Order: sequence, then structure tokens, then C-alpha cells
Amino acid sequence: MFKGLSKTMISKLGYEIRPVRKEVNTSGYVLYSYLDQDGSFDYEKYRKIQEEGNKRKISQVWAIEENIAFLADYIKTRIESPKFGICHGTRRGKEQSWFSAALGCDVIGTEISDTAEDFPNTIQWDFHEAKPEWLDSVDFIYSNSFDHSYDPEKCLNVWMSCLKKNGLCIIEHSSLHEPQGANELDPFGAEIWVMPYLITMWGGGKFVVRQILTAPQKNDRVTHQQFIVIQNF
Ligand SMILES: C[S@@+](CC[C@H](N)C(=O)[O-])C[C@H]1O[C@@H](n2cnc3c(N)ncnc32)[C@H](O)[C@@H]1O
Repeated sequence: MFKGLSKTMISKLGYEIRPVRKEVNTSGYVLYSYLDQDGSFDYEKYRKIQEEGNKRKISQVWAIEENIAFLADYIKTRIESPKFGICHGTRRGKEQSWFSAALGCDVIGTEISDTAEDFPNTIQWDFHEAKPEWLDSVDFIYSNSFDHSYDPEKCLNVWMSCLKKNGLCIIEHSSLHEPQGANELDPFGAEIWVMPYLITMWGGGKFVVRQILTAPQKNDRVTHQQFIVIQNF
């Protein structure tokens, strides 16, 4: 509309030209807080929201069998005869059964909701904690539920403490795991490019991002889908 007019003429008309300000989110991640009235962490609120979400979506399966077969092949070539794996946040428990069949080893799933007892090889357990017998004794961990963590730094350190030396933790990440996808049910959202930085900072030299793999199959509604492979030293 102002093309061809000088700044003075524009100002006489009562307008002003200013550069457009772009809103840039420089942190690259968001973390939803569960607070009580005193502003302290409200664990019961977190647990209740997760359990309600689990029950609302109990008929759904996010993991894709072809992707799990692809990851099982990846694990086979990097870990000699894996014996024990854990999948975290598994709802209907499909991923542990697919891994177990492909690798011929024990794989269990954790699930915070009491629906865990309805699915094979699934225990009702909050993945922010480790059972003492898991420490240093798991060959691989897989999760597509890391975005459900209320404290991703604590969570990843707990998972990595369970792995044997050179064990692998595979975190599924997609466009729905990004900041715009975060909410009360999925409290952690991060851009894919910020994940290696966060993981390196959180690990404090104990583990490293070994590789980022592109998923052979994408879920509906996602624009990109990757597997972040983290290896224990
Ligand atoms: C996005 S769903 C994924 C379910 C399953 N992995 C799949 O592929 O269909 C996340 C699941 O993680 C569970 N979950 C959330 N927070 C958890 C926690 N702290 N510990 C264990 N499971 C949790 C939820 O109840 C839900 O069933």
C-alpha cells in the first residue's frame, strides 16, 4: 500500500514503518509443570493425568511393527546376543512382544497405569525409577513415551543407569514430540535438533548420542520421525 511513498509522506499520513519482529523460540524445548497450590511438584496430579490419558487411548497403538523390526536388526548387529530389554511407557505392550520375538530374548514393558496388568510382559511402574535388579544389567531400552516425562534429565539418567556398558537406549522422536505438541499429557516437547545438545548436557560425559536413524515407517500426522540412539560408556 505504501510502495512509492517516502518516509516523510508516510509519516504525514500518520503511519510509521518498523521492521517486522519475528518471534523466535531460542530454547528449542518446553516442559510442562505439575504444581500444587504451594507451587511444589504435584506427583499425584502427574500420575492421575497419565493414567486418565492411558485409559482414554487404551485401544491405540503408536509403535509400528516394521520400525521395531528395523530397530531389532540394528540392535542385533551392535550387541552380541542381547538377553534383556526394557520398553518404557508401553500401553498395550506391542513393542516388547515384537522386540522379544525378533531378538529371541526377554523384553518387558513399564506402564504407569493400572491397565498394565491386562497386557503380557508389562509391569505397572513409573519409568522415572529403576528397580535395583535392573542397574547395569539391561542390553537395550526403547521408548516412544519420553515426552511423557515430568523431568527428562532425571528420567534419561535413570534409564542409562540400567544399561550395561555399551548398552543402547533408543528414543523415538517425531514432529509430534516437538514443543508445539507438548501439553498436560505430553509434558516434554523438544525440537529434534536440540535433543543431542540436551542429552549431552544431561549425560555429563556418561553417555553419548551415537546415531540418529530415520524411521522406515511414519505414523499418521507426523512430518518426520527419528530414533535417537544413545550409548552408555
Ligand atoms: C504415547 S503412549 C505410547 C504407548 C505405546 N508405547 C504405544 O506405542 O502405543 C504413552 C504411554 O506411556 C505411559 N506413561 C506415561 N507416563 C509414564 C511413566 N512415568 N511411567 C510409565 N509409563 C508412563 C502412558 O500411560 C501411555 O500409555
